[in-house]
Amino acid sequence: MQTLNVDLGERSYPIHIGAKLLDQAALLEPHLAQKRVAIITNTTVAPLYLDQLSDTLTRLSVDILPIVLPDGEAYKNGETLNSIYDTLLKHRCERKTTLIALGGGVIGDLTGYAAASYLRGVPFIQAPTTLLAQVDSSVGGKTGINHPLGKNMIGAFYQPRVVLADTATLDTLPDRELSAGLAEIIKYGLIRDLPFFEWLESNMGKLRARNKEALAYAIHRSCQNKAAVVAADEREGGVRALLNLGHTFGHAIEAGMGYGNWLHGEAVAGGTVLAADLSCRMGWISEHDVDRVRALFRLAGLPDNAPDLGVEAYLDYMGLDKKVEEGKIRFVLLKSIGEAVVSGAPTGPLAAALSGFVQTP
Ligand code: NAD
Ligand code: GLY
Repeated sequence: MQTLNVDLGERSYPIHIGAKLLDQAALLEPHLAQKRVAIITNTTVAPLYLDQLSDTLTRLSVDILPIVLPDGEAYKNGETLNSIYDTLLKHRCERKTTLIALGGGVIGDLTGYAAASYLRGVPFIQAPTTLLAQVDSSVGGKTGINHPLGKNMIGAFYQPRVVLADTATLDTLPDRELSAGLAEIIKYGLIRDLPFFEWLESNMGKLRARNKEALAYAIHRSCQNKAAVVAADEREGGVRALLNLGHTFGHAIEAGMGYGNWLHGEAVAGGTVLAADLSCRMGWISEHDVDRVRALFRLAGLPDNAPDLGVEAYLDYMGLDKKVEEGKIRFVLLKSIGEAVVSGAPTGPLAAALSGFVQTP
């Protein structure tokens, strides 16, 4: 097992990474405020891992309320959130009842926001079971739900007490979901870690073949990058915005295609290709760099282009992005591979990028 720390003063917490961590009661015990938890999961993950986690908690004599939600990005909404509140209230869960998110990023984001808002805040723990959640969404305290008008529009910054990334859970993850997680891993290389990007170019085959050592290294290195950025800028006043590389375009792709049709990671890949293309059109990176980015996404089993939603639809969706300032859309763009910046973009290159690497949906 490897352990990293997210340094946020009194809200600091450990990220434990390793196989079979869901069996380890000692990792959970110090973070439980009372011997009562609600485990929030979904219909896919529950049959795989709910009993395992429940058995571990039972060894600590913890009283467990399981809440099993329908599976899918389409359920990351106010209605599902309300159903969580309903169950917590019906069972008289208290301020010290801990919510445990057992699942991917959808479950993590929903559970985190339920924890941030139920009784004005109860403790929560992240037990991420997708690659994407282990390298990104479980770390850093962004929680929330989608709104029909835009992705992740309602939410809060609310940190977990501990992150338990059990890498053995990745054994059951479908290949397409593994690839979706690779998109966020590639992101860290692109925005701030050129040696990691180069390592990914050489080791993508091993990651897709689920080589345990390679996966553990990539998860650890990604969490190191994420923890450093979050520690420097918890509430996205500055450098944390760089973690949104590809997301301004990507959120438009997710909403425009209908939530769940393009996986979040796939949309981020398509969005990152658009961001790289725009960076090239603005004279910052070369065409060779754009080709390198696209080639790595292809190796990861991800799209190397974006759906043709039409320039107007893209601009419409992106107008709701959380980075918009005084009505102007701001993008995360590449100064080079390994260095990103937040910037506006002139209309010409932007429109050209939006009709450049696109395919008919
Ligand atoms: P997801 O939560 O939908 O999980 C993907 C699929 O895998 C689901 O069908 C899920 O049930 C299934 N699954 C989960 N674990 C499994 C396992 N071990 N074995 C088999 N199947 C398993 O998707 P995701 O990619 O994990 O997360 C995407 C979400 O995360 C998006 O909503 C995105 O907005 C959010 N996100 C949040 C942050 C953040 O900082 N909070 C960062 C990135 C992404
Ligand atoms: N996934 C973007 C962030 O955590 O800031």
